[in-house]
Amino acid sequence: MSQSLDPPEGVKPDWTISQDWESYTAADHAMWDKLFEHQARLLPGRAVPEFIEGLDILRLDTPGIPDFEDLSRRLMKATGWQVVAAPGLVPDKVFFDHLANRRFVSGRFIRSAGQEGYLQEPDVFHDVFGHVPLLANPVFADYLQAYGKGGQRAAGLGSLVNLARLYWYTVEFGLIRSDEGLRIYGAGIVSSSAESIFCLEDPSPNRVGFDMERVMRTDYRIDDFQRTYFVINSFEDLLRKTQDTDFAPIYARLADGPALPADALISTDRVLTRGTQRYAFERARG
Ligand code: PHE
Ligand code: FE
Repeated sequence: MSQSLDPPEGVKPDWTISQDWESYTAADHAMWDKLFEHQARLLPGRAVPEFIEGLDILRLDTPGIPDFEDLSRRLMKATGWQVVAAPGLVPDKVFFDHLANRRFVSGRFIRSAGQEGYLQEPDVFHDVFGHVPLLANPVFADYLQAYGKGGQRAAGLGSLVNLARLYWYTVEFGLIRSDEGLRIYGAGIVSSSAESIFCLEDPSPNRVGFDMERVMRTDYRIDDFQRTYFVINSFEDLLRKTQDTDFAPIYARLADGPALPADALISTDRVLTRGTQRYAFERARG
């Protein structure tokens, strides 16, 4: 991630750009619709109900790539958040500042044909379809803002690696308990058709009850399905645990120790599923 705070030419001082919605082609919109229809069919009964409700509240089922102005107007009404466009990844401090002010930073480009399943960089489908629906939920909306403030603090304490793992295992790849079984809330999962099924049904990964400090010392994979998913009890519980805990002593404890491998289980884990950890090498994501 680039750490110069000066944006490239043509980018505003806060690192945002115009979405330039008019410049999307018919093929761009068709790609959104294709991905949307596939996931909208897959996710009822797999994603947490608040995610499905968010799609509805924000009218995300309207065909085509959402116009961030319309989307922000709806989101502002629901929870006071906005969606702003950025040219790919922005410096950590800039990203946290946006979150702390209830602005979600989204890529504006969409993947092209043939890239439906695997992407290096987050595109507008991952960012908007994956992340934005839950921002219509007041509790999750507060969690992401609190995370932004926590990021500014962690950066100052030199502990971003630890806080980034919390983001990864909640915001991106989190699972949540429900009376009917596990449900998905992580954006990296809901925007991936293959991982939406894998994370719930495959015998390979561990599924472990969420524990903040445990998560903050666990490595993660960026190139394959997760080896371990952490399961929260509720958004209220996640918000309360993270907001009410002073992370500084945790960072201090973790600074000296080695990270846990992504597939490790430890004696204090509340193990829901012990994974077989049989992963095909370079398995195709989709
Ligand atoms: N409580 C955390 C701290 O002391 C801040 C935080 C809140 C981080 C919520 C993540 C999510 O730094
Ligand atoms: Fe993401």
